[in-house]
Amino acid sequence: MCGIVGYAGYRDCTEVLMEGLSRLEYRGYDSAGIAVFEDDTIRVAKSKGRLADLTEKMQEEGRPEGHAGIGHTRWATHGEPSDRNSHPHGGGCVTIVHNGIIENYKKLKEFLLSKGRAFESDTDTEVVAQLLDYYYLNSPGNPVDAIIRTMKELEGSYALGVVFADFPDMVFALRKESPLIVGVGEGENFIASDVTAILRYTKNYYLLEQGEIAVLTAKKATIYDTHYQKIQKELKTADWDISAAEKCGYAHFMLKEIHEQPTAVKTTITPRITDGMPDLTECGITPETLLKFRQIHIVACGTAMHAGIVGRYVIEKLAHVPVNVDIASEFRYREPLVGEGDLVIIISQSGETADSLAAMRLAKELGAKTLAIVNAKGSSIAREADMLIYTHAGPEIAVASTKAYMVQIAVMYLFAFELALANGSISEAECRRLTALLQEVPEQIEHILAHKEMTQLIASELITADSLLYIGRGLDYALSMEGSLKLKELSYIHSESYAAGELKHGTISLITENMPVIAVATQTKLLEKTISNIKEVKARGAKVIVVCKESYGLEQDVADLRFSVPDFEDILMPMLAVVPLQLIAYYTAVHKGTDVDKPRNLAKSVTVE
Ligand code: M6R
Repeated sequence: MCGIVGYAGYRDCTEVLMEGLSRLEYRGYDSAGIAVFEDDTIRVAKSKGRLADLTEKMQEEGRPEGHAGIGHTRWATHGEPSDRNSHPHGGGCVTIVHNGIIENYKKLKEFLLSKGRAFESDTDTEVVAQLLDYYYLNSPGNPVDAIIRTMKELEGSYALGVVFADFPDMVFALRKESPLIVGVGEGENFIASDVTAILRYTKNYYLLEQGEIAVLTAKKATIYDTHYQKIQKELKTADWDISAAEKCGYAHFMLKEIHEQPTAVKTTITPRITDGMPDLTECGITPETLLKFRQIHIVACGTAMHAGIVGRYVIEKLAHVPVNVDIASEFRYREPLVGEGDLVIIISQSGETADSLAAMRLAKELGAKTLAIVNAKGSSIAREADMLIYTHAGPEIAVASTKAYMVQIAVMYLFAFELALANGSISEAECRRLTALLQEVPEQIEHILAHKEMTQLIASELITADSLLYIGRGLDYALSMEGSLKLKELSYIHSESYAAGELKHGTISLITENMPVIAVATQTKLLEKTISNIKEVKARGAKVIVVCKESYGLEQDVADLRFSVPDFEDILMPMLAVVPLQLIAYYTAVHKGTDVDKPRNLAKSVTVE
């Protein structure tokens, strides 16, 4: 969840590290710090709070000047956010930054305490720094040896950037579970938690695999395995450019990413449509493979899990194949009934979510085939899945997921169409018709974005609410879950989503004039039922905001405020109706003055359990 960077080259290292960290701050923003070689000494600057706080501190106290070093932006796990617990952490001649969790840190700490070592922070990371130093002192002059010995002792997940005082201008790195790349430039090399941190300088990088160790100087980046053997790796080239990771005139990344949705959908679906029909063969999925599966499980977290719920409705409706949707952290510990003949679909933007990755590994162990739907290229989930569909949303920087959700559901549709055609649940003509409609979705989203003013008015009505309900039926219920999550994570207003028909079984007792209700009503067959539920909450004083199709002629007293989305095929409505829900959450946060792109307590990539 933390972000790490490292640099060895000819530039001003502090500037490179701070620039890289500014791209990684979405991974955690409780504190930030850097360690830079100033000739033979390592100078550390760190501060609780955002990068801006670190910049201010360096303005007051002076900034490290040099050409090699490491940096970190933190999402606190062990120890409160404070200057003391901020990375980098030191131990003797070693200074490190860490992303991940060392599960056996207590045992290691006891061992080190018994050796007379003292600790300055509450973190698991400092234990690693001390252990590295301990082994280094046993074999001075051989840092890689110390790293290998330390790796043998560590349990848990880590990506580490390390500097040894005895090796000025060299940066060492290692990883297990937590992601890390090695960027390769001309006369300069980098490490980073993800490629966006180095895009300003180079697009070329190596993906560090489990247990590999990188040694960087300005001139070269060498990778070793745990037997200290050099490894030749394939040099990869990022297909994103730096503008993909910049706001480009938008007030926030989230707003930019909402507006990127039409393009993201086009880029994701176009290569998977041949002659007007879905075609996932490039991803390892053919009609023959699909017919082998007797049931499907979709496993994911947060917004990605909500995309899975849309997927369940669509697959079951079109292809008549049973689908379970599971929260990854539940799936992995509940001894799921999964095995041969099952397909487990893992959905993840980052491809690094710890619970989703563990769930996928479990599914494989149990004999199921796995299909990953992932946005981040080369991520762990993408690499380990049996089959893979990349979503092409480009980097999603805002912590709240928008365009990634959009393309995840776009892929769910393509998958459902292909499966339904393969097992004969829909005809070729119907499949062609639905695919053509899917291709029209980007234009429909453009239309909604061009008429978004109403979402600002709705947002201004919500800012005083303490609590909200989102209701809907069928696909609208699936969507209201996502709308509710967006609102609470961004604006800190409590909200829940409920199946509209379930309200009467308890929750309606919460309804007063102080509890606004957002009703999603885009499913024509369910419209009358949803309207009845809306009337029930209205009768109890709730202010009701309805997101529905343009053509629905609601009676005057049904909605206090209404956002109309274009009339479109019912089954595809989630791709349209989610846009106003995203915008309502966005503008509510803007009106409330919360940090839209980096909401309180959150991090973009949840790489710890
Ligand atoms: O990277 P992933 O898609 O696996 O992340 C899953 C969730 O952590 C993520 O969708 C989270 O719920 C979003 N911040 C919500 O906007």
